[in-house]
Amino acid sequence: MKVAVAGTAGLAQHITRAVAEEGHEVFMLSRYQRPQLAEKGFRVIQVDYFNPESLHAALIGVDTVISTVSGTPQLALIDSCLSACVRRFAPAEFEGVPYERPMIEQGREKIDTLNRLREVKEKLQSTAFCCGIFYEWFGPGGLSRSGVSAGTILEATPTGRVFLGDEACYMLDFRNERATIPAYTEKGDDVYACFTAAADVGRFVAKCLKMETWPEQLKMRGERLKLLDFVGIAEAVKGRTFNVTIIGSEELHEQAIDADEAEDWKQVSKLEVLIAAQRGELDFLRANANDCYPEVETLSFKQWLSKAWAQEA
Ligand SMILES: NC(=O)c1ccc[n+]([C@@H]2O[C@H](COP(=O)([O-])OP(=O)(O)OC[C@H]3O[C@@H](n4cnc5c(N)ncnc54)[C@H](OP(=O)(O)O)[C@@H]3O)[C@@H](O)[C@H]2O)c1
Repeated sequence: MKVAVAGTAGLAQHITRAVAEEGHEVFMLSRYQRPQLAEKGFRVIQVDYFNPESLHAALIGVDTVISTVSGTPQLALIDSCLSACVRRFAPAEFEGVPYERPMIEQGREKIDTLNRLREVKEKLQSTAFCCGIFYEWFGPGGLSRSGVSAGTILEATPTGRVFLGDEACYMLDFRNERATIPAYTEKGDDVYACFTAAADVGRFVAKCLKMETWPEQLKMRGERLKLLDFVGIAEAVKGRTFNVTIIGSEELHEQAIDADEAEDWKQVSKLEVLIAAQRGELDFLRANANDCYPEVETLSFKQWLSKAWAQEA
């Protein structure tokens, strides 16, 4: 099967590597030539997302496109998949379950893409790959240093808000033994979230290429954890008790209003993702990709965290 992966950051590299390991022909689409990726063994085709002919030419003969590219370029990619008779398309999702997200700018753009895919579903099959939160947020240097995300969506959202993915910016500050978590729902129940290592996401995506028909969502995870247990694991790995702040729903919303009034967009973005976690948007009970491919042995959060910080010591 011929597969194209759009984008070239770490997640795209994990997916491409895993797809090749499954024996498929695979290449990446990029706005640039990216010779350093060719040196690493990746095949890269340079495209111009604003030139339909360039995209069309790259997609001839491709069965499946996996996108990590968002916004208008992704919509152009869908149009070109239709013109080049691509059979399947997976949009840049790779987070919580769609339609449970609030209509903040970043989420709205993703919903627009999913709506477009619904319109064309007779011609182009699609699925939303859902994986919860990447473990890579919690390693040394955070998501930014992990290279998993190119960071474009987070650096410059349409509202100009900024969320860089620095170390300790999201729930857990492993280095300084601190955590701020929305541990309880508005009703007082424990909050859970799903978490996955980006490399495991790549392996699940590659396995799911085998499916004859994709369901609307393909959910995968390394672990589903109560947020209090998520911090407990970090404490166990470090062998220290962390200073844990449990932030309630009311306080989260009040802080978000204050940050909004102060035009502190970085803080607003941080609070938005905490609110999303507290609302359970990053949680799902069944993980159908794990059920279908139990041979994909996922890393537990403890395994991943221990390894990530051992390298730092
Ligand atoms: N679950 C989580 O914790 C989590 C965290 C972060 C991201 N994600 C998800 O992972 C996926 C990828 O995220 P990301 O942060 O890497 O996305 P991104 O910053 O938008 O970058 C993805 C790719 O898009 C291409 N790109 C960037 N800007 C572009 C533009 N203006 N026009 C055309 N192409 C452009 C880049 O490839 P080239 O430069 O090679 O063209 C890049 O590799 C998204 O679906 C995101 O939601 C999930």
